[in-house]
Amino acid sequence: MKPKVLVVNGERYWQDYFPDCEVIRKKIQDTTWVYRKGKLWVADKDGTISPDAVLWRVGAIPPSGKQTVALDMIALSGVACSNPVASLKKGYDRLSMLHELQEAGLPVLPFEVISDTKAASNVSLDFPFVLKAGNYHGGYGKMLIKNEASWKDAMSVLYLTDTYCTAEPFVDYEEDIRYIVVGETIMAMTRKGKGWKANVDTQSFKIVGTEKGLKTKVLGLKSGLGADILAVDFVKDKQGNSFALEYNDIPGLSGFPQSLRGILAKTLRKRMNI
Ligand SMILES: Nc1ncnc2c1ncn2[C@@H]1O[C@H](COP(=O)(O)OP(=O)(O)O)[C@@H](O)[C@H]1O
Ligand SMILES: [Mg+2]
Repeated sequence: MKPKVLVVNGERYWQDYFPDCEVIRKKIQDTTWVYRKGKLWVADKDGTISPDAVLWRVGAIPPSGKQTVALDMIALSGVACSNPVASLKKGYDRLSMLHELQEAGLPVLPFEVISDTKAASNVSLDFPFVLKAGNYHGGYGKMLIKNEASWKDAMSVLYLTDTYCTAEPFVDYEEDIRYIVVGETIMAMTRKGKGWKANVDTQSFKIVGTEKGLKTKVLGLKSGLGADILAVDFVKDKQGNSFALEYNDIPGLSGFPQSLRGILAKTLRKRMNI
């Protein structure tokens, strides 16, 4: 029987990169997970499988408790997972993610954290600043606050949400650069969006050279996390200073060379011992 690779919320193309395996795609939102007698089972309307490996590609959907439950069950079962569960769980929360960035010595912006969005008025930064509510990707939950009037409006909506928020200075950047590492391969890409978020309505992607200092820090972060794949987003200001905004250990691969897919598949195969 072919080994079974479960792709959770992932792209359609993974079967091509695991020709000797059976690749099954399921969505976390539609699945029930069972751990029984040391084995992991995952069920949805298309059937039930016991995976030999998991490729966790849950991207820009709202973080839910079920995701951490499923991750813990993967860890309990010992099923090979890319990224490893411990790494995914750190990246799953924005605050632990920011802590990892700090610990790895990346140049993080001086951010503030408020435990409750209802108390966002505690932010002490000058305008303009960026307010990020909870842990969402793909540009979701992020606002550029330019003045008192837009801050009042934003707070009135934040009052309806129930999460933490961070605030950081707005960098009027020259370049938005995403570094990505898969296995031992590292590359960087600049992105331009229609508005201030480079990853929303993205108009252009361009592969660019990596900077030695940032490359070393990104590689250090990746090995500290024990991750197979990792992206770090930077903005570079007009003076040439780079600031790390976040890392994402379930990054989208579009815009990057297709070879990265094969490298990611290879790292998971290594974890499966095949
Ligand atoms: N403090 C900031 N200053 C300027 N631009 C920012 C700032 N924070 C985020 N952005 C822009 O918004 C994009 C998305 O923000 P990011 O923190 O990477 O969150 P995510 O990609 O998870 O939604 C960044 O790539 C960048 O273009
Ligand atoms: Mg980002």
